[in-house]
Order: sequence, then C-alpha cells, then structure tokens
Amino acid sequence: MYKSLRPWLFRVPPETAHEAALLALRVFGALHRPSVAPVDGPLAVHVLGLRFANPLGLAAGFDKNGRALRGLAALGFGFLEVGTVTPRAQPGNPRPRLFRLTEQRALINRLGFNNAGMEKLAARLRAYRPAIPVGVNIGKNRDTPLHRAVDDYRLGFAALAPYADYLTVNLSSPNTPGLRALQEPDTARLLLGALREDQGAFFRQSGRHIPIAVKIAPDFAPQTLDALLAVLKEGVCDAVIATNTTIRRPTLGHVPMAGEQGGLSGVPLAALSREIISRSFKALPDIPIIGVGGINNAEEAWQHLLAGASLLQLYTGLIYEGPRLVHTILAGLADRVQAGGHDDLGNALSAARRNLSSGSRPNTVKF
Ligand SMILES: Cc1cc2nc3c(=O)[nH]c(=O)nc-3n(C[C@H](O)[C@H](O)[C@H](O)COP(=O)(O)O)c2cc1C
Repeated sequence: MYKSLRPWLFRVPPETAHEAALLALRVFGALHRPSVAPVDGPLAVHVLGLRFANPLGLAAGFDKNGRALRGLAALGFGFLEVGTVTPRAQPGNPRPRLFRLTEQRALINRLGFNNAGMEKLAARLRAYRPAIPVGVNIGKNRDTPLHRAVDDYRLGFAALAPYADYLTVNLSSPNTPGLRALQEPDTARLLLGALREDQGAFFRQSGRHIPIAVKIAPDFAPQTLDALLAVLKEGVCDAVIATNTTIRRPTLGHVPMAGEQGGLSGVPLAALSREIISRSFKALPDIPIIGVGGINNAEEAWQHLLAGASLLQLYTGLIYEGPRLVHTILAGLADRVQAGGHDDLGNALSAARRNLSSGSRPNTVKF
C-alpha cells in the first residue's frame, strides 16, 4: 500500500508530506486498539532498567512534539524517542530545509530544532503515554549562548524527567550553530556532570532513576572521538546514541542536492554510524549503545547490533520503505535468532559477536 502511495507523497514538498504522515498516524492511532506486546518474546531486551518488547525504536525528530504517539506505537516499535525539544518554542530555519535524495534513500535536513517547546511536550505526555518506553530528547534554544547551554538542558531535564523513561542529551545536531562544540571533552564533562546531579536529586525526590543517554555525531576526527568516549567512561551518562546525521557527503558523488547544507541521514550514513557504534562499544563495554543511522532492512539492523548496539532506532528508512518496515525488520531479526538455534536475541548476538572476534565466519542467513 505504501509503495503505491509513495509516488504521490513524493510529489509534495518533504515537510508537507511529513505533516500528512503525522496526521495519518494520528488517525490510525485513534482507530487502532492498542495491544501490549509481550516483553519476554525472543526479541525482548532488558537494558537501562527498562523492558523492551523488541530493540527497534523510532529515532528523534520524526515526532518532535509527541503528536502521534498512539499511531507510532501501533506500528510495532519497541520504543519511541520524541523531541528534540528546547525550553522555548522556536520556528527553526527558513524553508526549504528538508530535501529528499530519493535514489540514495537519503535525506538532508537543516530544520534547526523547530519545536513547540518543552512545556507543550510535557503536557502531551502527561495526558497520554503509550505502553512502550518513551525517551525524550532535549536540546538548547538557538539564541541561548553556548556558555549558558547547560541551563537549557537542566530546564529540559526538570520539565520532562517526570514523563520520560529515559532522557537524551542531544549534543550532535549539525543545525544549531555551535551545538557540536558541546561534545568537546571538558564542556561535555561539565554539562553531563550537572545533569547527573539533577538526575540524583530527581531520584531522591521521586524514587525514579531516569537514565541519561548522550547522542553523538558521526563526524569526529579519531582522537576527538576517543577523548569524548574517555569522558563518557568516567560515568557521566547511562547510554550513548550513535549517531546523529552527518555533515559529510559519503558516496553521494555529483547528486545536485548533495550541495544543500545540513545533516545527511539514510543509507549513505550507515557505514559511518556503524564505525562510531563499534568504537563506542570497544571503549565503553559497560554502557549500552543505541545504534542509529541508515537502517532500512533487517541486515543493516543486524549489522548495527553486531557492531555493539543493544537497541536500534530509525527515521529515514520509514520515509522510503513505509510503516511495514518495522515488521519486516523485526521478522528478519527473529529469523536470525531462530536460524542460529537461539531462544533470544541476547544469546544470538553474544554468539555472533564471539564468532566475529574469533575470526570465524558469521552466520550467513539471508533476509
Ligand atoms: C528530518 C530529520 C529531523 C531530525 N531531527 C532530529 C532531532 O530533532 N533530534 C535528534 O537528535 N535527531 C534528529 N534527527 C536525526 C535522527 O534521529 C537520526 O539520528 C538520523 O536521521 C540517522 O538515522 P536514519 O538514517 O535512520 O534517519 C533528524 C533526522 C531527520 C532526517
């Protein structure tokens, strides 16, 4: 059905198509009777103190303001991440600011945190939260000076921790000037240290531990990534999300759209993201990694898991493959677990990672 709709959807500007998709998901959510997926099936994952029916989540940015949570949960995701939201509502960059690279199954966006503000999202989550875990991604307003960025993140934490299963500190959008400088080791240590304090205070007051995930970029010079990972190893966060979009233009050649400024997502990002997942996993064996970037089929999902991800997210794949993609990927992962003779994903992955590190051929099940 989506395949026949797509040519029509792709005739309208990408942002208009996105608005239409969110509206359709809201209608779908209103009509769909919510079903609670079992959290002990073969794809179930227990990580960050949370139970996920499956490891595949929706990446931040698709539903920034939490408008279509019911419909999105009904697609079969194991978890949803909403945001990025900032303390105050802001319009983002002027349009056009979202571009399709259809042949490459990619997008370039320079939206710039267009969002309705943290209080709007808090009100929506107060009114409704789906039965699956919901992460909330927080950022800084464009006009907050960088040296005050920590204040914005603390405001975001205070407003949204009561309604989140985990919070993501977005240090990696390429579309807010200077944001990525917050990944610089000393700055990251101070910022995340402050949020750790807020997390502790929230726990003392509510009895709830809200895990903090840090979302990182794929565009590091090797030593810079190592320096950031060394800071994260000091215990300033509970999870790493790798990665955000890239400002590079890998494998795009002479596509005219490639010249648009902004972050590239989708298929051309997969290898870059996987490299960062793999290096983060090696440097931080005790910190769960949420792998995101270019997942558009079960094989790519499996490869991100093999590289070290415990959970996965996608965005651009949904635009090109449609909502069935969630089930297609989950079915492919379940086949992979079964084909290896394992009873759950965790065991299948441990065995496959052991095979990889001992140099034996990985299981070559085709999807
Ligand atoms: C249109 C668009 C908007 C996005 N907005 C956000 C955002 O607000 N916050 C964020 O952390 N990531 C945002 N992202 C990045 C995605 O969450 C994800 O990290 C990236 O797109 C790579 O995954 P993908 O290849 O599956 O799309 C956005 C991506 C796209 C395409």
